[in-house]
Amino acid sequence: MNILVTGGAGFIGSHTIVELLKAGHSAVCVDNLSNSSSRALSRVAELTGAEVPFYEADIRDRSALEKIFADHSIDCVIHFAGLKAVGESVVKPWEYYENNVAGTLTLVDVMRRSGCKNIIFSSSATVYGDPAVVPITEDCPRGVCTNPYGKTKSMQEDILSDLCAADKKTGDPRPWNVVLLRYFNPIGAHPSGLIGEDPSGIPNNLMPYITQVAVGKLEKLHVFGDDYDTPDGTGVRDYIHVVDLARGHVKALAAIERGCGVAVYNLGTGKGCSVLELVKAFERVNGIKIPYTIDPRRPGDVAACWSDPGKAERELGWRAELGIEDMCRDSWNWQKNNPNGYRE
Ligand code: NAD
Ligand code: UFG
Repeated sequence: MNILVTGGAGFIGSHTIVELLKAGHSAVCVDNLSNSSSRALSRVAELTGAEVPFYEADIRDRSALEKIFADHSIDCVIHFAGLKAVGESVVKPWEYYENNVAGTLTLVDVMRRSGCKNIIFSSSATVYGDPAVVPITEDCPRGVCTNPYGKTKSMQEDILSDLCAADKKTGDPRPWNVVLLRYFNPIGAHPSGLIGEDPSGIPNNLMPYITQVAVGKLEKLHVFGDDYDTPDGTGVRDYIHVVDLARGHVKALAAIERGCGVAVYNLGTGKGCSVLELVKAFERVNGIKIPYTIDPRRPGDVAACWSDPGKAERELGWRAELGIEDMCRDSWNWQKNNPNGYRE
């Protein structure tokens, strides 16, 4: 298939392009580089030996999108483009709704006018809110999102699901196919060390914070709370290697091909890992001590969140293959080889 990857210069998008090309698909990338560098795409070319056509454009720019669809015959869109920082979304809600929701509305409008009604969307475990039970299955109700970022994910899921429902109701002969992928906590990097996560400023997320402590850019890790109702008191998450996550997108194309209507899948490992377990695994695998202090809880954090990924295995034949050790090794390999990320 020929896939348009929005946000393809970003962390998950760049790894997904590599896996798409490896699986024999072709890709076109659109990204406004608001949170990424075109160097990521040069590295993808180095890794795969293939140059992916790249449009530096915003998905809210209708005419730029129309040009892409006029230039290429697109079978499916994998839609990563969006803003993703939870804390920033609280202070800049308009920017989040406008970029994520309005951007998706423009994208799907151009898609349907171009006759491409297949989309795989980057959703998030954040739509479950504070889960009533773990592991979380896809039928667990979506919870209350406490921040605008999470709300934009729920809204985008609703918009895409309603498009499918309308086609079903009217018996549209060429209906939408929508795969909503709810990611748990993507970490790790390509084992080559050529592509990885490159946050700007001080990282919000745990693994990039740990690697920046390891490389000496930050003094110590702040562990947000050790009084949760979890085995060691620190927050438990379902960390998933970004390469496994990327492969999940390739597998999700099968759902599109069989005309799935709306299909929702959790992409996680099904295993919970606490903050301190991740720190210890990182220290063990890489032989580096990570100094830390225990700080107060971070507002909005849940105690524990991990997936039941069984549906993706049953229906897509996908399961995560890589473990916490691989994630720790590859995150560090990326950071130590690229101490300033993609910046020179
Ligand atoms: P990222 O910021 O590395 O990638 C997103 C890319 O989209 C960036 O390259 C950015 O420049 C681009 N972009 C943003 N707005 C755009 C616009 N209007 N037009 C064109 N390009 C635009 O983030 P990521 O970690 O790769 O995440 C990809 C997607 O997965 C996002 O939608 C994110 O919300 C979602 N997600 C990420 C995580 C995570 O922990 N990384 C978890 C759940 C869901
Ligand atoms: N944590 C620390 N110190 C830090 C950073 C994080 O102790 O410096 C802890 C958090 O309290 C939490 C765990 O590490 O217990 C993981 O935190 P992250 O910020 O790495 O990840 P979150 O689970 O909070 O959220 C991430 C993304 C969201 C996404 C969610 C589910 O940031 O966008 O995973 O996919 F919605």
